Amino acid sequence: MNTADIKKAVSILRSGGLVAFPTETVYGLGADARNEAAVRKIFRAKERPYDHPLIVHMADLSQLNEWACEVPKQAIHLAETFWPGPLTIVLKKQTHVLQVVTGGQDSVGVRIPRHPIAQALLQAFGSGVAAPSANKFTHISPTNAAAVREELGSSVDLVLDGGDCAVGLESTIIDMRRDEPVILRPGMITAEMLSTALGKQVILARQDTPAPRTPGMHHLHYAPTTATRLMAKYELPDYLQALNKEAFPIAVVTHSQIDLPPSVHRVMLSNEARQYAHDLYHTLRSLDHQGFKGILIEEVPNTPEWEAIRDRLKKASGSR
Ligand code: TXA
Ligand code: MG
Repeated sequence: MNTADIKKAVSILRSGGLVAFPTETVYGLGADARNEAAVRKIFRAKERPYDHPLIVHMADLSQLNEWACEVPKQAIHLAETFWPGPLTIVLKKQTHVLQVVTGGQDSVGVRIPRHPIAQALLQAFGSGVAAPSANKFTHISPTNAAAVREELGSSVDLVLDGGDCAVGLESTIIDMRRDEPVILRPGMITAEMLSTALGKQVILARQDTPAPRTPGMHHLHYAPTTATRLMAKYELPDYLQALNKEAFPIAVVTHSQIDLPPSVHRVMLSNEARQYAHDLYHTLRSLDHQGFKGILIEEVPNTPEWEAIRDRLKKASGSR
């Protein structure tokens, strides 16, 4: 990435435009977090309801107090441990933070991303960039520049191309406003890692009591448009054998060795969580283009390092 691109991006942000940029998790659709008209453009481009708050991205910790107040020591400790990185911390907002950024709530989600292009952009801009994932509401988050263009087309003024996102899933979101930290959205920084850092148990928000403002609670969040279903490994072969012709062509995403009928299009992902996460959205997006009648996904292990992946798979295969 050359400095001319960063300069251009900064000037677009300063004049109230939208810039899509890579982060290590997924691509973000950024606007000047202090410019209400600019932030509104994000919601229009994504067709996203206004009560879904945006994450404010910044370059370094010295900017934190511009956006958040009453920051607990423990939150600072997490910031020092995991930033820059794939963690979003929810804190009490400063009074001036725009309602349109926080969805009308009195909290704000903040993150310092690690990707060098995000860093360069945020350093050069010098203030907060409000940015959700750069996809249409309920679609899969983009993990490369082509996916951003496919999602948002001409509604974004500039796409900074930083190649493939290293993590591939959205950041972990932790609410640090109370003594009991709560994970609002699991990510590749796991509950275990957060608990270890804090020296106390961090719990996951209950996912069975949908509140409109909890991340990704919308039942079609992170979903491909092709009907997608999760299935246990042992069920897959029989299920596929029993399907009638109308169900084909069908794609199956696995991560373990299973004998499947040759009539299915099989995609084998890694049996290692980090690599699986890295490849998942790209795989689903590409399968979505190939005209399958359905996508079947092998269930993933019920262990902590797969938690975020399980969460996204559940949502990708949500009721429809
Ligand atoms: O990895 C990521 O987090 C990416 C990159 C671009 O940073 N961003 C992202 O943003 O995934 P988005 O808007 O697609 O998802 C952020 C989620 C939203 O579902 C929103 O509800 C939640 O964060 N969120 C933001 N601010 C919040 C707040 N103050 N309280 C609770 N949830 C909040
Ligand atoms: Mg999103």
